[in-house]
Amino acid sequence: MVGKGKDGEFGFATVREGMPLVRSTVYEMLRMQPPVPLQFGRARRDFVLRSHGGAAYQVSAGEVLCGYQPLAMRDPEVFERPEEFVPERFLGDDGARLLQHLFWSNGPETAQPGPGNKQCAAKEVVVDTACMLLAELFRRYDDFEVEGTSFTKLVKRQASPSVAQAAAAAGAQQ
Ligand code: HEM
Repeated sequence: MVGKGKDGEFGFATVREGMPLVRSTVYEMLRMQPPVPLQFGRARRDFVLRSHGGAAYQVSAGEVLCGYQPLAMRDPEVFERPEEFVPERFLGDDGARLLQHLFWSNGPETAQPGPGNKQCAAKEVVVDTACMLLAELFRRYDDFEVEGTSFTKLVKRQASPSVAQAAAAAGAQQ
């Protein structure tokens, strides 16, 4: 999981190109717990809002709409085993297709923020930073447990014997 990136030992390039499972895990975390659960918007024009269940709602320009992401992100029509945390959910071609339904940033993960859509302007930085944090945790610790926002267990990584021997040999030569 750890590799050398273009921008140093460990950076944005590393997590963008070389850590698909870390990235998929971050997407799954955003799916299960969207950090901004409620979103509001005012309709700019009249339109019909359709659900994939067949229901249709007439929306008039000026009306305020509220979206509750945790509900949409656990839609069983879209996500298999929606209540389960599946780190590998967004891997491969099927996972990439599923990204059009991931809405943590007030728009699909596959869309870009722009003046007309009010999508999080920092959506790529948010995902990349979360990937770095997660990867760094695995790099530094052999074991950890989290409850809420607190670490309840942290076991520092033990250097493998070969690494420890190489370090000792390098020290002896100095
Ligand atoms: C964990 C971090 C973040 C999360 C979860 C997040 C999430 C969101 C969400 C959900 C929205 C849409 C709000 C709405 O209209 O209902 C939003 C908008 C926005 N975000 Fe973020 N964001 C994060 C970090 C950042 C950072 C670091 C920046 C800038 C440095 C940023 C810049 C913006 C801007 C400018 C908008 C407004 C876009 C607009 O109204 O056109 N966000 N963000």
